[in-house]
Amino acid sequence: MLNFDYLIPTEILFGKDQINNLKSKISNYNRILFAWGGGSIKKNGIYEKVIDALKDKTYFELSGIKPNPRLSSVEKGITICTENNVDFILAVGGGSVIDCSKAIAAGVYYPDDVWDLFMRKTTVKKALPIGTILTLAATASEINASAVINNEETQQKLAITSNLLRPKFSILDPTYTMTVPRRHTAAGIVDIMSHVFEQYFDTTKGAYLQDRLAEGILKTCIKYGPIVLENPNEYEARSNIMWAGSLALSGLLSFGKKGDFATHKIEHEVSAIYDLTHGIGMAIFFPNWMKYVMHENIYKFVEFAHNVWDIPDTGEKTDIANLGIQKTRDFFSSLDMPKKFSQVKINNEKFEEMAAKAVYFGEIGNFKKLKKQDVLEILKLSS
Ligand code: NZQ
Ligand code: ZN
Repeated sequence: MLNFDYLIPTEILFGKDQINNLKSKISNYNRILFAWGGGSIKKNGIYEKVIDALKDKTYFELSGIKPNPRLSSVEKGITICTENNVDFILAVGGGSVIDCSKAIAAGVYYPDDVWDLFMRKTTVKKALPIGTILTLAATASEINASAVINNEETQQKLAITSNLLRPKFSILDPTYTMTVPRRHTAAGIVDIMSHVFEQYFDTTKGAYLQDRLAEGILKTCIKYGPIVLENPNEYEARSNIMWAGSLALSGLLSFGKKGDFATHKIEHEVSAIYDLTHGIGMAIFFPNWMKYVMHENIYKFVEFAHNVWDIPDTGEKTDIANLGIQKTRDFFSSLDMPKKFSQVKINNEKFEEMAAKAVYFGEIGNFKKLKKQDVLEILKLSS
């Protein structure tokens, strides 16, 4: 296990009606940016509850934040915050709204083009505090330090990470996720599992505990994923999936490990160009990445097959590893997730461009370091 600093400072208010605590959580702030997406919160009643908690404050709204959040929304939010001396951002929605809010929080204190932060020209030095009300279980943005933004002009989708961007608090009411459409619920479950894979398949030796925690989260998704799709209002299932989502990318699984994240970098460049739902991209890619890299450490894939999918670990190692990968693919298919680009109307026309962008900052991954040619091979396996 590697050395690490444990830091997960976000206060999580988990459970039914935790929104009743919103007022007290924002009591120290006066001028608030209320950020939200395309309108789901107006349909399911969360909007009114937020407005009620904000009624004694001066607040400004930034709405229309799209999935794969656009840089233009970030810029709009920065302008609202600077012109109105905003002192707090409240993000209400899924990962896209939260990521956009984090980028605004960083951009307010950056004097030049906020995209510089994503291009790694500099780092985040200061940020506005943010709080979140999560409405979709998937990204863990509600607890982590990252934000992913889509630059619609350059068609790049890049991340920033800074502990300054970790939310002060997040309200996680599983009942809020009951209105998430089936396809986004399923994509969220795949995303949660993908976050675990990115940290589970790693070259660090001796992080035994982290890997057992990882397997617990995967088993939770495998148990409750089909239940939430069958019965969207099942509280126990929604709450387990929601908490699994937060823990999966909170940092807990990667403290003491390196992590991989190559598959995420590839998918981000696909969704930058094709506006694909992130979890759907992950469903297409991950089993193919697994096949491509499994011989780097076949024992890790045997462990995965055995511990997660209950496949006996006796016999030919490659067969056991392949069976584990096939089980993963079958599970994603059982959630009605596509397995090929052709099912989401993406052809090979932009493979070169996407591969080049994925390795823009150099080789990606850790389990196997991927060059542009490797990324191209994984894209081809997915077509
Ligand atoms: O915009 P509204 O109207 O709210 O509708 C959203 C959106 O259309 C809808 N939705 C959300 N909650 C709902 C709901 N509909 C009904 N009822 C509810 N309760 O769901 C759609 C998708 O929302 P979005 O926020 O885009 O989904 P998600 O949470 O999966 O976020 C995806 C984004 O996060 C990034 C992805 O790349 C993508 O841009 N990620 C962020 C990460 C991070 N910050 O750490 C890590 C992830 O790997 C990921 O890359
Ligand atoms: Zn993800």
